[in-house]
Amino acid sequence: MTHELLNKAPAGGSHPSPESLHRRLLPWYRRQRRRLPWRGAGDPYRVWVSEVMLQQTQVATVTPFYQRFIDRFPTIARLARARAPDVLAAWSGLGYYRRARNLHAAARLVAREHAGRIPADPVRFGRLPGVGRYTVGAVLSIAFDLPLPVLDGNVARVLSRLYALPASIREPKGARALWRLAGTLVPMRRAGDWNQALMELGATVCLPRGPRCPACPVRALCRARALERVEVLPPPAPRRRTVTVKRAVALIERDGRLLMVRREGTLLDGMWEPPGVELERRASARAALGRALKKLGVTARLEPTGRRVRHRITHRAIEVEVWRGVEGAHAPGARVRGARFVGPRARGLALTALARKLQS
Ligand code: ADE
Repeated sequence: MTHELLNKAPAGGSHPSPESLHRRLLPWYRRQRRRLPWRGAGDPYRVWVSEVMLQQTQVATVTPFYQRFIDRFPTIARLARARAPDVLAAWSGLGYYRRARNLHAAARLVAREHAGRIPADPVRFGRLPGVGRYTVGAVLSIAFDLPLPVLDGNVARVLSRLYALPASIREPKGARALWRLAGTLVPMRRAGDWNQALMELGATVCLPRGPRCPACPVRALCRARALERVEVLPPPAPRRRTVTVKRAVALIERDGRLLMVRREGTLLDGMWEPPGVELERRASARAALGRALKKLGVTARLEPTGRRVRHRITHRAIEVEVWRGVEGAHAPGARVRGARFVGPRARGLALTALARKLQS
């Protein structure tokens, strides 16, 4: 059946045709789009940086980080030449540090294997580290106008509602159906604007709760609206259970600077924060922290501060007991192996978000 025929079906039963959506949504996007610093630059590298940052992080949070990152690494060549700790430092506070490591590795590969130019080819671009289907679609459609779809949480919600499709992006079957649908809608020209129009609609109008349907440029075409199912679509994703983890950290201060160590072998590999330990159930924080400090070669008397900091990393809820470590006599300027004393305005060091909370 063609879209034309579908469109003549009774109210509530019609599928919006791609053309009818393009006709309404593209002009709306040109009028209403937010002026974001990466928009209109036309520079594939900047589009790439913004799209990597925008995965898992909201526009308002990303904007200042994006500006700083681009000031620091204005071209892909500069990023390729940078040292890993400097890249992590510029990412520090944004979270999901694997994104930064992958972007850096990918920039180096572009420099080495693609003569410094981002390949405008989905297969070759998609082979770079961290570049999945979303990034391929977003960067190549926005920067090179290739007709490739994108699907993120916002786009998935918009499509699920427009087509009354009870599919969740968080389930493989739902994601497949939504990618397929997104692929059928991409226009041959202005694919970048189209993809961003869907994202923009999801971010500003077709909200998860309290969608602003009266302000929606495609409300007349929306099947969920015709069926009064806007509030129940998309279906809720199966929840990933939150794991609660307890940690204790020791704040050890010298001249207003805090002792920080480098974390290794976890999601936070290479990032700095005050020395700490994960606590087994019913473990004594004092004893466990004491052992951790001993390994570092630090002698300090531990005192509880009574302060607790809550912190989330993906599905882990971390409860942190904060202790103070009071050092015994030490030689002036004595160093601690693998650790540093860090002042409140330390620049160029990748601190974890927890370390930032603890500094304040
Ligand atoms: N989220 C992800 N990519 C985006 C973009 N290009 N514009 C707005 N929101 C986004």
